[in-house]
Amino acid sequence: MKLFVLLNLMFGVVYCEKILAFFFFPAVSHQNALKPIAKELSLRGHEVTLVTPNPDYNSSLSNLTEIDVSVGYEPFQFYDLTKLNRDSVYLIDLVLMGHHLYEDIVIRQLKAKGVKELLQKPADSFDLILIEGNTPAYFGLQHIFNAPLITLSSYGTGTYYHHVFGNPIHPVLYPDIFAQLSGPISNLLDKIDSLYVTLTYHLMAEYYMFPRMDKLVRPYFGLDMPYIGDMVRNASMMMLNVNPIISERRPLSANVIHYYKLHTPKIEELPKDLQEILDHSKNGVVYFSLGTNVRFQFLGGNIKEIILEALGELPYTVLCKWESEYQENKPKNVILRKWFPQESVLAHPNMKVFVTQGGLQSIQETIPNGIPMLVIPFLGEQPMNAKILADRGIAEVIMPKFLKKEILRDTILKLANEERYRLKAQQLRDVYMDQPQSDMDKVIWWCEYVIRHRGAKHLRSPSADISLYEYFMIDIFICILVAICVIYKGFSLLLIIAFRILGQTSSEVKLKRQ
Ligand SMILES: *[C@@H]1O[C@H](CO)[C@@H](O)[C@H](O)[C@H]1NC(C)=O
Ligand SMILES: *[C@@H]1O[C@H](CO)[C@@H](O)[C@H](O)[C@H]1NC(C)=O
Ligand SMILES: *[C@@H]1O[C@H](CO)[C@@H](O)[C@H](O)[C@H]1NC(C)=O
Repeated sequence: MKLFVLLNLMFGVVYCEKILAFFFFPAVSHQNALKPIAKELSLRGHEVTLVTPNPDYNSSLSNLTEIDVSVGYEPFQFYDLTKLNRDSVYLIDLVLMGHHLYEDIVIRQLKAKGVKELLQKPADSFDLILIEGNTPAYFGLQHIFNAPLITLSSYGTGTYYHHVFGNPIHPVLYPDIFAQLSGPISNLLDKIDSLYVTLTYHLMAEYYMFPRMDKLVRPYFGLDMPYIGDMVRNASMMMLNVNPIISERRPLSANVIHYYKLHTPKIEELPKDLQEILDHSKNGVVYFSLGTNVRFQFLGGNIKEIILEALGELPYTVLCKWESEYQENKPKNVILRKWFPQESVLAHPNMKVFVTQGGLQSIQETIPNGIPMLVIPFLGEQPMNAKILADRGIAEVIMPKFLKKEILRDTILKLANEERYRLKAQQLRDVYMDQPQSDMDKVIWWCEYVIRHRGAKHLRSPSADISLYEYFMIDIFICILVAICVIYKGFSLLLIIAFRILGQTSSEVKLKRQ
């Protein structure tokens, strides 16, 4: 009996803790990357409150309470997300557009009934807060619930947040997402551009986005809340949905971890007709899908015709995710559907090339199948992903504004016919799949670690809390420079004095002689 109690004390420290998971961003891909964590925590015996724009209300998850913030989807009708890249707008407008979208979403969510009730709960309601932290807003939850906070992301994160956690942000080695480059950068103009992006984003975060968000959320989190930037600095850990081999390979502080394979692939049985089509396409299959955010009506021009004509000239069967199943002049080899079971399609042995917008989720579903990709990146982190995949030799990239029939057709043919792409893709698959532990176990372990120790201050990198001028040792250089100047000036003064004295004595000698 004693032994049992002892064992319980040793191993049972984290039993049934109360966890708040606030995964706010209204996009299915974000939610798919984050919600499994909340679900798993509840299955492992914790009492989880999940705030999400996509609640499932699965009654068999009895320890999971969901709060609906789907009002966050409303602002999207006012923003054309296909413009969210630097080929369409200036960097500053791009950052502003992203920020204003966040403000729009946050303010609607904070007014939602479920969130209002949540914010009324007593201060000790939770032992751990998880948030999706691509905006500073919800870091303010720490002030209400006085619990340690972990910030997560469904992709990487901006350089500003890396800086706050003490990760290196060298613009040549680790360009910001918006630089749309893959490090190390070799071209001088690209280097300058990357520095410009890092500095601009940094200054805008510091002097525009953070102060504005602070004003916006303060009435909801309490007027006595410390500055929102300090709330971000108070976070215990950052978890990024990133695999180093398909990212910038940035070194990480001890309180930042990567995870990337939370969901086990859903290889379901294909619908019968689809299975037959795939099995009988002995020449190979191309799968074309630009995801859920890219709407053809935003692309303008005759882009639809261009795409269809190019696909029609391929000697392969093409599965094409399209807005409707009917399209005038649809080529014979092209099959249009509103939706395909993507993971099962990609796993089919006849699959040759995937044409994608380069969202992280699609990439993560493609790599385990060793299939070359043609990336047509539109928004957010997609242009950067595209550059990285091309650098790794498994993809070709076409920027949307250069999309022409011949280019599209020829690039797909090249990817399908040149063996090197498939070889590289298979090599990448092998290193990608090889890992020491399941990522879900890793994420859960760290969550429970932060609960056990009421935070992870002890892991915080020293570089997180020094200013840029200290980081770049500017104070030291100035000191050395001053010292050199003083020594130089002092030395020349000494020389002058010495010459004066010498000159005087020699003229005195001269005078005496006269
Ligand atoms: C809920 O949590 C309790 C422990 O607090 C656990 O025994 C139970 O299995 C959990 N239920 C589910 C459905 O996960
Ligand atoms: C509900 O959750 C359980 C446990 O994870 C899962 O097996 C089941 O498929 C889920 N149901 C739905 C409708 O998603
Ligand atoms: C900072 O984090 C700790 C947990 O690590 C938490 O207890 C505290 O309330 C936070 N500070 C503020 C001002 O919210």
